[in-house]
Amino acid sequence: LHVGLLFGGNSSEHDVSKRSAHNIYDAMDKSRYDVSLFLLTRGGFVLSDAASRRVFDGEDEAAVATEELSKVDRSNPLAPIWNLSQAKDIDVFFPIIHGNLGEDGTIQGLFRLLKKPFVGSGVLASAVAFDKDMTKQVLTTHGIRNTKYLVLTPNNRDRYDYETVQEKLGTNVFIKPANQGSSVGIHKASNAKEYIEGISDAFRYDYKVLVEQTIDGPEEVEISILGNEEPKASRLGAIRVPKSDVFYDYNNKFVDASGVTFEVPVELPADLTAEITSMGLEAYKALGLKGMARIDYLVSKDGVPYIGEVNTLPGFTNISLYPQLWQATGISYTDLIDKLIGLAQD
Ligand code: DAL
Ligand code: MG
Repeated sequence: LHVGLLFGGNSSEHDVSKRSAHNIYDAMDKSRYDVSLFLLTRGGFVLSDAASRRVFDGEDEAAVATEELSKVDRSNPLAPIWNLSQAKDIDVFFPIIHGNLGEDGTIQGLFRLLKKPFVGSGVLASAVAFDKDMTKQVLTTHGIRNTKYLVLTPNNRDRYDYETVQEKLGTNVFIKPANQGSSVGIHKASNAKEYIEGISDAFRYDYKVLVEQTIDGPEEVEISILGNEEPKASRLGAIRVPKSDVFYDYNNKFVDASGVTFEVPVELPADLTAEITSMGLEAYKALGLKGMARIDYLVSKDGVPYIGEVNTLPGFTNISLYPQLWQATGISYTDLIDKLIGLAQD
């Protein structure tokens, strides 16, 4: 089987995606798969297999991209994706582009046009799950617990000063761009100054910003889901960040993870484990997800779980929980990749 591994992208998670792609590539059973690499540059060009491989092996991405671009007929409107659309003999695409363009339904639409099966969720489910507001709307419709929140847009943001927000959601709030991965642009605010600064930063990333209630003394818990119509759930994992940090943010995810500890699997009370697991499977089905997702929860001090977010192309870096949770559940990295490719759909 010929697999096209597509990675990179123009989101703030470009480098994270490269790390994920390396691990997926290394775990793939090469006796079963021919693998072509396609690096989507920050500028939006898909590099050829040969050029992508050079970057994969450590060459400077910008230099390789410049060289590759000089070979492309830029007057061709398809030039940016030419390498990909020429890939007639690819049987299955495995996109591992986190964030904008990769996780939000865009790339999935391209695969549909190319009539190629691909790993993971389709266009609509990807788009809905990537938008934290749309996700919450679906969860709420299905009675799946998530935190209270407000949606701010350029049109209504003047109406929500800190006092108004505080009345509705409490003193401490989270501020998040609706469409963004890896906790980029997320802030915690406990006073008007932090609120105003947080909102203006979050609006740099999206026209829609969520202001969310915080949960008392939360534990961050994650679950991995795998499958199409009959999804299966992994055991649970917990993430503990240093007390000095406010939450599991981009820095302690991918820059300096030294203070973060993971418990994989984590032993929680049986009824809480069962509730988190069934919430995850219900959310997966309600959102129409396919292939895989990692679902992140906040569990309050008194043991009430809230779904925080859903990641349809979760990280596969060395510290990412998606593959680790499957290993803890008895599925090796290599078997996991086999299963994901097997679940790929048109
Ligand atoms: N968005 C990152 C890659 C994650 O959730 O793992
Ligand atoms: Mg995410």
